[in-house]
Amino acid sequence: MRFFIFITNYKLITNIQIILKNMTKEKNNKMEKIVSLCKRRGFIFPASEIYGGLANSYSYGPYGVELKNNIKQLWWKKFVQERSDMVGMDGPIMLHTKAWEASGHTSGFNDVMVDCKACKLRFRADYLVEELTGKDMEGQLEEMTKVLQEEKLKCPKCGKSDWTEARNINMMFKTEMNGVEGDVYLRPETAGAIFLDFKNILDSMRVKIPFGIAQIGKAFRNEIVARNFIFRLREFEQMEIEYFIDPKMKWEDLFEEWLKFQEEFAMEIGVKKENMRRYEHTPEKLSHYSKKTIDIEYNFAFGFGELFGLAHRSDFDLTQHSKFSNQKLEYTNPQTKEKFIPHVLEPTFGLDRSILVAIDAAYNEEELEDGSRVVMKFPKRIAPIKIAVFPLLKNKPELMIKAKEIFDILKSDYTCEFDDNGNIGKRYRRQDEIGTPYCLTVDFDSLEKGDVTIRDRDTMKQDRIRIEELASFFQENLK
Ligand code: GAP
Repeated sequence: MRFFIFITNYKLITNIQIILKNMTKEKNNKMEKIVSLCKRRGFIFPASEIYGGLANSYSYGPYGVELKNNIKQLWWKKFVQERSDMVGMDGPIMLHTKAWEASGHTSGFNDVMVDCKACKLRFRADYLVEELTGKDMEGQLEEMTKVLQEEKLKCPKCGKSDWTEARNINMMFKTEMNGVEGDVYLRPETAGAIFLDFKNILDSMRVKIPFGIAQIGKAFRNEIVARNFIFRLREFEQMEIEYFIDPKMKWEDLFEEWLKFQEEFAMEIGVKKENMRRYEHTPEKLSHYSKKTIDIEYNFAFGFGELFGLAHRSDFDLTQHSKFSNQKLEYTNPQTKEKFIPHVLEPTFGLDRSILVAIDAAYNEEELEDGSRVVMKFPKRIAPIKIAVFPLLKNKPELMIKAKEIFDILKSDYTCEFDDNGNIGKRYRRQDEIGTPYCLTVDFDSLEKGDVTIRDRDTMKQDRIRIEELASFFQENLK
């Protein structure tokens, strides 16, 4: 959870040296295997690769985008569709410049960096100092420079001690807009747009406090060091909620409830509870307006890192936007007619980190009697492909026709794949790596007896099922 303006209290892992310390060889190996599988099997590709790549930017390939859409849909269903106290919206990436002044991003959305003059490597200065000295100097720019220069701390890469001054850089991407004077920014978080449309939602919807507004969309941060595959990106997606409450209400139970919903969501995309932990921001580092902030961390292949966050943001954002816009951003209690600026609980979820966590949690290597397999045990509802349809032999037109017939029926309800390449064993292995829960084979018995083989991804058990029962089988097992 990133705070700024008055403090920057967040446990971000951007410095590879710190991460390396926490890595076991095995874990490191797992990360490499995941990155390789993602490319080999069409989940995630390094972007702009034909031009030599663009620092830490990635494309979601055909299976990656299915996985991403399934995670988004699951989130929207859980937090918007299935709840009567939530509405959704989709705001723009570029907001009025004043909005970022009001929220404090223009002046305070900074990271502190330092460069090694000898080898030109750039570091997050606070993490570097902490790593080299054990001192937590977050927010103390001058002291950090002093320690680096006077104690002649050595660059972890080249071993020299020749440092620039530690300096703040604003992490927002600037751009220009025709007809608009001054800088326009790409949003560094999705939350802002929600506050700007708070009044429109109050006026147009019959929402009563407590209620929440949810949004999914892209955010952009000029991270000093983007690292760890899709964990820390400069262009990423967030799924955020601003949940508005009465300042007089007891919020502690609700806070705990939201944390549980967030952990529940993590488990729905495959996370095991024992691989998550909570990190509570200490009172001295908490921003002055926040009553409580907790990060939900996951034990990624490179060590623990923030997955989701939950913050009590008080009335800070609405009050600031009210001041800067000269608009009343108040709620009127329909019974008592009392007017007040609501307080806010903010559950925030990184979509790319959700994808990484789903991939990390699904990754399994299994020893079999006849070799080994890599199998992605995604929860079925987020698996990119639900059913793979195989004709036993591709040179037998009657098998091809029957298999196509079945594929055409199933594909209107499920994401399906037709595969007639190679032997069945190889086709199974490929689908295991994609995480397809069911493979369906059409063979000669299918033509005679009207049944097919269904093979289960996790148990590898094969059953014969009558073609006319396929719809109810998948309805029961996939929907
Ligand atoms: N509105 C609150 C907010 O933006 P944050 O902790 O800075 O808080 C929320 O970001 C979530 O967005 C994080 O928990 C993480 O999942 C994701 N996130 C943040 N920075 C990211 C980055 N550079 N790359 C990928 N995901 C990121």
